[in-house]
Amino acid sequence: MKAITFVTQKGGSGKSTLCISLAVAAQERGLSVCILEMDRQATISDWLDHRTAEGPEVAQIDATQIEGVMNQLRDSAYDYVFIDTPGVDSAGTLSAIRAADLCIIPCRPTPADLRAFKPTLAAIYRLEKKFAFVLNQTPPRSYRIRDAADGLAVLGILPDVNIVARTDHQDAIGVGQGVTEFNPKGQAALEVRKLWGWIEKRMQVSRSESKQGIKQVIKNAKAA
Ligand SMILES: Nc1ncnc2c1ncn2[C@@H]1O[C@H](COP(=O)(O)OP(=O)(O)OP(=O)(O)O)[C@@H](O)[C@H]1O
Ligand SMILES: [Mg+2]
Repeated sequence: MKAITFVTQKGGSGKSTLCISLAVAAQERGLSVCILEMDRQATISDWLDHRTAEGPEVAQIDATQIEGVMNQLRDSAYDYVFIDTPGVDSAGTLSAIRAADLCIIPCRPTPADLRAFKPTLAAIYRLEKKFAFVLNQTPPRSYRIRDAADGLAVLGILPDVNIVARTDHQDAIGVGQGVTEFNPKGQAALEVRKLWGWIEKRMQVSRSESKQGIKQVIKNAKAA
């Protein structure tokens, strides 16, 4: 089981929306996913209330529960646990970062969003976690995206796909679906599938990096 935490203090950047649509896209690839919702706003529970299709399972938890829940889930049959966090700094946010194998930081290409993730990034660095930005709600094409992408690429990993602002995202959530279910052939669905493909590869890189770590440990042990 691998955990992916969607995190940034900036409200409305797209944590819950991406969490839902990526969970559905992962499910469509045959993976089993559950979502831990740490936000009292309950965007994901509301979404689930409108959902008629099977899965992913959703559970609401608070900061006091996450460590125990994650310990139980580590050896579970889930391929992925997605953790959705609130748009404010809280004890729960820090625990959710701590629990993550990868943190996804959604970010709109606006000066306010680009400034707002700094405390999140500081916490991620402090806890030595892998992370990636996702440029979300972008215009289809603009100098702003290029500037934001250049800035983010310097700070960390940026996928090879941006998520453009499209009504499919809003409409899908409204009827309890992911964008890939709502309009499977639409551009929003294509972008989300591409993003999930990128994230899966990134998780594999994480695994091979940790293998490299072990090789290094063995090498060091032999040399000692
Ligand atoms: N790519 C997109 N295109 C169009 N609308 C989007 C997109 N991503 C998110 N939205 C819309 O933006 C709003 C905020 O998104 P969302 O609730 O996912 O943000 P959030 O980061 O979870 O916010 P909070 O911090 O308040 O939990 C929602 O109305 C959602 O439908
Ligand atoms: Mg949210």
